[in-house]
Amino acid sequence: MDKPPVVQLENLEKIYQLGKTTVHALRGVSLTVREGEFTVVMGPSGSGKTTLLNLIGTLDKPTSGRALIDGEDIAKMNDGQLTRLRRHKIGFVFQFHNLIPVLTAFENVQLPLLTSRTKRREAEDRANELLDRVGLKERARHLPDELSGGEQQRVAIARALANRPRIILADEPTGDLDTQTGSEVVRMMYEVARQEHAAVVVVTHDPIIAERADRLLEMRDGRITEIVHEPLTGEKHAIRAIESVPPEPGRSLSQPN
Ligand SMILES: Nc1ncnc2c1ncn2[C@@H]1O[C@H](COP(=O)(O)OP(=O)(O)OP(=O)(O)O)[C@@H](O)[C@H]1O
Ligand SMILES: [Mg+2]
Repeated sequence: MDKPPVVQLENLEKIYQLGKTTVHALRGVSLTVREGEFTVVMGPSGSGKTTLLNLIGTLDKPTSGRALIDGEDIAKMNDGQLTRLRRHKIGFVFQFHNLIPVLTAFENVQLPLLTSRTKRREAEDRANELLDRVGLKERARHLPDELSGGEQQRVAIARALANRPRIILADEPTGDLDTQTGSEVVRMMYEVARQEHAAVVVVTHDPIIAERADRLLEMRDGRITEIVHEPLTGEKHAIRAIESVPPEPGRSLSQPN
């Protein structure tokens, strides 16, 4: 049986109006992400990847269409409910680590637990457990600038997982890392998220990571195409354009009016 959906997007559109220029960042995106699934989003610069992640993460609102997290329509939530949703159900990993420089690795991971009022003892245990899982037990007392880029990003992953979110959103989390370290960091995110039953949506250009995805999506000009892995040949091909409204000529930033 299918696992329950964590994210359901129905025909999402996002339009930015910049003076006379209309930017169709998303042109009708529909997507279902289920519990524990690892989804990779690829696509050229400006195709709408970050916009998509921001909408899933409720950091931005769609112009039209519906977005449900755990079956709840985010358009119907007030600011307090959205804050709670982000705090408890969503973990973010950014391109650059965004760790708090004056806090140790341990304190960075513990912080979201304390702000969500987890008891101190429980927060300590959870932070230690997560640092152990990302292989940084021995580095728990280090400050971020005493850690390598890859280690810092592993702390960021542990921090994103602290409150046992339903979904981890990661926008090019390998930003300034070399290819091998970047792949290792994402592999770790994949494994730890899986142990914790969290769904992951990650934007990356790394073909090795794409190979491991449960679902590989390609974005082009605000639309999603799903790619499947052929089990025998390893070849990939598009199975369907999830949305099929033809583009409006001259309405995107790449083709200004
Ligand atoms: N706040 C904004 N105001 C106006 N236009 C925006 C805004 N944010 C994004 N856009 C436009 O929306 C489109 C999609 O942007 P988005 O950041 O989602 O692309 P992306 O796929 O993440 O690109 P990259 O790979 O470069 O990060 C682009 O044309 C961009 O210029
Ligand atoms: Mg982006």
